[in-house]
Amino acid sequence: MNPLGTLDELPRDYVEELTRANLVPLWPSMRALLPPQAPRSATLPAHWRWTAIRPLLLRAGELTPMEKAERRVLVLANPGRGLDNLQASAAIYLGMQLVLPGETAPSHRHTPNAARVVVEGEGAVTLVDGESCAMEPGDLILTPTGQWHEHRHVGRVPVIWLDVLDLPLMVYLDVSYAVEGTSQTAQAPAYSYAAGGLAPVAHGRRAQGPYPLLRYEWRRTREALQALASSTEPGTPVQVAYVNPETGGDCLNTLAFAALLLRPGEEVVIPRDSAARVFHAVEGDGEAQVNDTAIAFEHADTFCAPGLATVRLANRSSRAPLYLVSADESPLQRKLGVYEQR
Ligand SMILES: [Fe+2]
Repeated sequence: MNPLGTLDELPRDYVEELTRANLVPLWPSMRALLPPQAPRSATLPAHWRWTAIRPLLLRAGELTPMEKAERRVLVLANPGRGLDNLQASAAIYLGMQLVLPGETAPSHRHTPNAARVVVEGEGAVTLVDGESCAMEPGDLILTPTGQWHEHRHVGRVPVIWLDVLDLPLMVYLDVSYAVEGTSQTAQAPAYSYAAGGLAPVAHGRRAQGPYPLLRYEWRRTREALQALASSTEPGTPVQVAYVNPETGGDCLNTLAFAALLLRPGEEVVIPRDSAARVFHAVEGDGEAQVNDTAIAFEHADTFCAPGLATVRLANRSSRAPLYLVSADESPLQRKLGVYEQR
């Protein structure tokens, strides 16, 4: 491929005249914008340790009352993308959120889609358009775009969860905003799936809106993984997707969520694809190899892999299973027609 001309090669007066006219020559930036053969990502393999996050988050609980925080969150920022940009990857934002007993994170709604993975604590609920979703460790709870949500906590110990949003995407598109609301009235869900494939007859065959299931109980996810493991060859990833139970499609429009089980001593390779992916250890410890970066992770740690990374995961325990939840950008990339596996 021929080297392209640089800005320095152009006469200074010419460049200045371009600038005055709000014009920029393409060719000096051409290779950066359209690199040969594969995209270049600023996303680095990154690892956020629970043992580092937890005390700092609890300290935030002492330093900053809910009234001053609205959402008391420490953002898991990828150093490759610049910490100030609050991005784990191009489209994924990650934050660890703390709610103390008796506190309420007030009602609001926003354009970004959000999901939460509960890390520790009990007694909190997320209200989503009035539907009360209990929050137990490992649960995945959706607050899709535009839906009112608030978090209440009547338990006795702090509750902490991992927020996963498509915030960087919405900011990039200039469509990110929030609306503050008034406290919601908790209602029994008008229509609730007891489990995938089972819908209450009294409410007809389909839910009113596009998100028929908001809370994916960890207990059920774990059972599904164990059942799948019994029929899966060792070394093949035991993985379930969080899907919309009516369509079978992704549970959110932009991000896909999955849960993964590694049996004691097992190693797996995640199929290499263009979607950046984040992993969170719900139970157990393990090792990840993301390209050239080795990550020894423990319970409740979070780590990320850029798109097209080679990702190997290992459960080094000879006795305990390892359970992970992942989120990735594949739905967004599929909609854009750019998703690929290599
Ligand atoms: Fe929110």
